[in-house]
Amino acid sequence: MLNVIILGPPGSGKGTQSQKIAEKYNLLHISTGEMLRREIKERTELGLLVKDTLSRGELVSDEIVTSMIASTIDSDTIHQGFLYDGYPRTISQVRQLQDILNVRGMSVDILLLMEVEHDELVKRLSGRGAAFGRPDDQSVEVINNRLEIYRQVTEPLVDHYCKTKTCAPVNGMGSVNEVFGRICRAIEIKCKL
Ligand code: AP5
Repeated sequence: MLNVIILGPPGSGKGTQSQKIAEKYNLLHISTGEMLRREIKERTELGLLVKDTLSRGELVSDEIVTSMIASTIDSDTIHQGFLYDGYPRTISQVRQLQDILNVRGMSVDILLLMEVEHDELVKRLSGRGAAFGRPDDQSVEVINNRLEIYRQVTEPLVDHYCKTKTCAPVNGMGSVNEVFGRICRAIEIKCKL
């Protein structure tokens, strides 16, 4: 089973590229952000609990997202692996994912680190906010808050994955297909496909 993490700041193309990666390598795309937005849309108890946190651009608790990951992995029988998009995002989540994988006899094969310039991130997120109305893309303050939380809380995880030699930096600037080509090369080299 292949276990791929895609990590990068908001707007770096994680969701866009994940759809293509999941299809090409037959992986289950697990996006914690998408799962949470679905809960909000369906007005579930969890959705009501996390709605304000997402609209402020802050992180929900580690326990909430990790329990979603474990149950999603266990319910899948048809894919050749998993693609984690937007998870892990904190040091605790790194440990929790490691535990989840260890007990199932798996480990992280590659972490794709999406690198995109700050101005381009703001441009992409504001553009999507104007076009599609995603609540956390609506104001510059919330966009900046998300980028700052990424810098302070999530970026330090990269060191951990560099130590385990699973980190593969990917230039996320350029067209969607250009970026996808770089990602495929990184996966095929690192995972020896
Ligand atoms: P999440 O859904 O993970 O959002 P995010 O990290 O803020 O990322 P985005 O979806 O904004 O960007 P992306 O990198 O996926 O880029 P995308 O492909 O969409 O999380 C949302 C919230 O949920 C969090 O803030 C938090 O509250 C909560 N949450 C989620 N996971 C959590 C966790 N593990 N722990 C705690 N809380 C959690 O592209 C963005 C735009 O750019 C699109 O319009 C796209 O069309 C465009 N674009 C993409 N690629 C290109 C390109 N190459 N050129 C030009 N435009 C492009």
